[in-house]
Amino acid sequence: MRKAGRLAAQALDMLVPLIHPGMPTDKIDSLLMEYALGHGAVPATLNYRGYRYASCTSINHVVCHGMPNAKPLKDGDIVNIDVTLIVDGWHGDTSRMYAVGNVKRRPERLIEITYKSLMLGVAAVRPGATTGDIGAAIQRYAESEGCSVVRDFCGHGLGRVFHDRPNILHYGEPGEGIILEPGMLFTIEPMINLGKPHVKILADGWTAVTRDRELSAQFEHTVGVTETGVEIFTASPKGFDCPPYKIDQAA
Ligand code: MF3
Ligand code: CO
Ligand code: CO
Repeated sequence: MRKAGRLAAQALDMLVPLIHPGMPTDKIDSLLMEYALGHGAVPATLNYRGYRYASCTSINHVVCHGMPNAKPLKDGDIVNIDVTLIVDGWHGDTSRMYAVGNVKRRPERLIEITYKSLMLGVAAVRPGATTGDIGAAIQRYAESEGCSVVRDFCGHGLGRVFHDRPNILHYGEPGEGIILEPGMLFTIEPMINLGKPHVKILADGWTAVTRDRELSAQFEHTVGVTETGVEIFTASPKGFDCPPYKIDQAA
């Protein structure tokens, strides 16, 4: 899990200096595909339930599962890039937000709130806590900032399998759900909206968008429960965990 998580995080690091207005998301996807294959990994999403790409690229009001395409990114866009790499049979699943060119304060603030939501969820992980403690920490904070938590998608157990039990809801009450034990492996991947939480799936069968077309953001880490707390497998080796990414660090 350490190797898979680290490689997935390094793949997202690799993109930091490359994302710019005018770049199409299918270029990002091919860079991730090359990176994976060049490092002995396979993207888990390729041919997963009919999905055909190495990543999901979800722009602005796209909540998740945006499919890479030839359309160029625009100045001011915010985009989530989600990649899952299989290394030695183990899955490392992570996503981050990227700001394209100059982003306005509203989307920038959503990105900050969403990253903090993820990290508050991670901080709730320890033996004896419950999955509901994770969701409650995320929901309490995101809603206190006037945002909403998407209900239609959740984090998930993973390891040798991509999507396994338990479900990790990003909302709920403390003490609900199952009790966390050392050795459990799962993702936390809150999708936070500026408007209402409701989503719809486009006719392509994959792309999830906000019904009110307001902005949505997401960050995802793969974590493990340790004897004393939590280990994040997908932390950025370059410190590019949340924008603004200091580009000179990438050199
Ligand atoms: N990586 C996504 C997740 O966080 C799953 C994408 S499945 C796909 O679980 F088929 F849409 F790629
Ligand atoms: Co995931
Ligand atoms: Co993912």
